[in-house]
Amino acid sequence: MSIAVSAPLTSAAAATEVAARGRFLVFEGIDGSGKSTVARTMHERMMAAGRPSVLTAEPTESWIGDMVRRGNKEAASPFTETLLYVADRAEHTAQIDKWLNEGKNVVCDRYVGSTLAYQAVTLRPHLGEPAREWLRSVNAPFTLRPDVTFLLLLDPELAMERLGSRPGREKFEKLDFLRSVDEEYRRLAEKDGYVIIDAARPLEQVAEDVWNIIARM
Ligand code: TMP
Repeated sequence: MSIAVSAPLTSAAAATEVAARGRFLVFEGIDGSGKSTVARTMHERMMAAGRPSVLTAEPTESWIGDMVRRGNKEAASPFTETLLYVADRAEHTAQIDKWLNEGKNVVCDRYVGSTLAYQAVTLRPHLGEPAREWLRSVNAPFTLRPDVTFLLLLDPELAMERLGSRPGREKFEKLDFLRSVDEEYRRLAEKDGYVIIDAARPLEQVAEDVWNIIARM
């Protein structure tokens, strides 16, 4: 399948020649931040308001998404894992671009920010600091710039509690990992202008805040 996206990092909003192009809304956050619930709520509210909306997520439900999940289960190398996420995104972006051109809003649970945050952490031991720039350039040819990226921030310890994981060595490893991902996300938020949402509050309140921002758009 060919990639329908012609220019790297095209702004979804900048495509003014197609007046009815939809908005591209992305939700990012560490595991347990509640972003999937909030993304689904936003999709449902838009539909209820009569705005066509598509709810989608990465890893996708496609066969490449299945490969990503398989790669995770079989502990593939961090490079293989990264390239699988990127392959999944290449196909997904072409589909997202189509939906946007059909005038649908697209609500996406994880997008390029997830690779820039999580894989910066997994690749740093192999590539050092240049991991961040390498990840940006690998993603650039098939990444659309979202109209808005919401970053749901939650203390990694609270996120772990929400995830309900048991105490033990694995838990501390995971907590350490999520702390590093959280740091990457905060850095990205500053650099790429993510909208920061305090996700430590009840999810209904979080959803209300996000909805108010979307409604203003
Ligand atoms: P999920 O729990 O939101 O479905 O995400 C699955 C896991 O995949 C989560 O731990 C984050 C990870 N992930 C990455 O590491 N890089 C990526 O690019 C994406 C999309 C997900």
